[in-house]
Amino acid sequence: MEKPLARNHPVENKRAFRKALLKWFQTNAKSYPWRKTSDPWSILVSEIMLQQTTVASVLANRRFEKFLKQFPDIETIATAPEETILRAWEGLGYYNRVRNLQKTARAVLHDFEGQFPSDAETLQTLPGIGRYTAGAVSSFAFNHPAPIVDGNIARVISRLLNCQKEVDSTAGQKIIWQTAAELLDASKPRLFNSALMELGQTLCSPKSPGCLICPVRDYCQTRSPESLPVKKPRKKFVQVDEHAFFWIEKNKLLLSKGQDSRRQGFWKLPLRSPEQCAHLEPISQHRYTITHHKVTLYLYHAKPPRLLGGEKYHLISRLPDLPIATPVRKILAAKTIELGL
Ligand code: ADE
Repeated sequence: MEKPLARNHPVENKRAFRKALLKWFQTNAKSYPWRKTSDPWSILVSEIMLQQTTVASVLANRRFEKFLKQFPDIETIATAPEETILRAWEGLGYYNRVRNLQKTARAVLHDFEGQFPSDAETLQTLPGIGRYTAGAVSSFAFNHPAPIVDGNIARVISRLLNCQKEVDSTAGQKIIWQTAAELLDASKPRLFNSALMELGQTLCSPKSPGCLICPVRDYCQTRSPESLPVKKPRKKFVQVDEHAFFWIEKNKLLLSKGQDSRRQGFWKLPLRSPEQCAHLEPISQHRYTITHHKVTLYLYHAKPPRLLGGEKYHLISRLPDLPIATPVRKILAAKTIELGL
């Protein structure tokens, strides 16, 4: 049976819409660790962590609590060495996020006398803080009436409005942010933004939305929620091959320090061009995905040929303390176990 069209427009019935949403949230709110604090540093850490990592994974591994135990305040992270912050972020990926957290901590200490700004506009001047994160810190930490739009909220609002514009287009973003601002309950911004986000994370899911039990179904203008939001076709994966050397001397593994921008600061297996490996037989193949690359890594049991410009080799005996990208660490773990090292 086709879903009947809602009688009420959410923006024209803001008060009733807010009431229905908040009533639902009263009994459906999840108890997340970052909802138990209003400390802006902790809120910022949670938002940055949750940008490319799922809630389930952050919770399961207690990553939020562990990171804050190690860096409880901006003073602690501001003076930490790069190796330490990269190691603390290991497994979460997108390491510029933690580099920016450190830059932001330093900026707050030096430019704002150690006090986080509370308004979204000023927050956006800090490194790595965009419109969403600024609104999240402003509303969740300071309870200021700043709207937020993440992927979940964009889906909820696209459906509420039956918006047919591409969600990531300038026109689509403009409508969605404007609606988030109009709907926001300025007397309870923290609660309202959390509720809207939670609706998107639970009932208003991408593939099988629970419209029958949705608290705001009377305000939802779409008849085909599964088709919204409208998205650009996905970027294709690019296949790449890597050729890496696995060499042990005196019980120590030969690694090099990453030079390219993506892996700056990380230890890696020395890589060479396919031509330089043409005379060798790989001992194993490994596949991993990073951003939109599908990588096949061929591993050679040999000492890599002469150093590349700017490259440095190190013989390493203790891997656990070093920042090593997760796919490389997994390969190393497999290899060292297999070879009984
Ligand atoms: N994802 C990103 N930020 C979040 C938050 N504050 N609560 C729940 N999920 C989130």
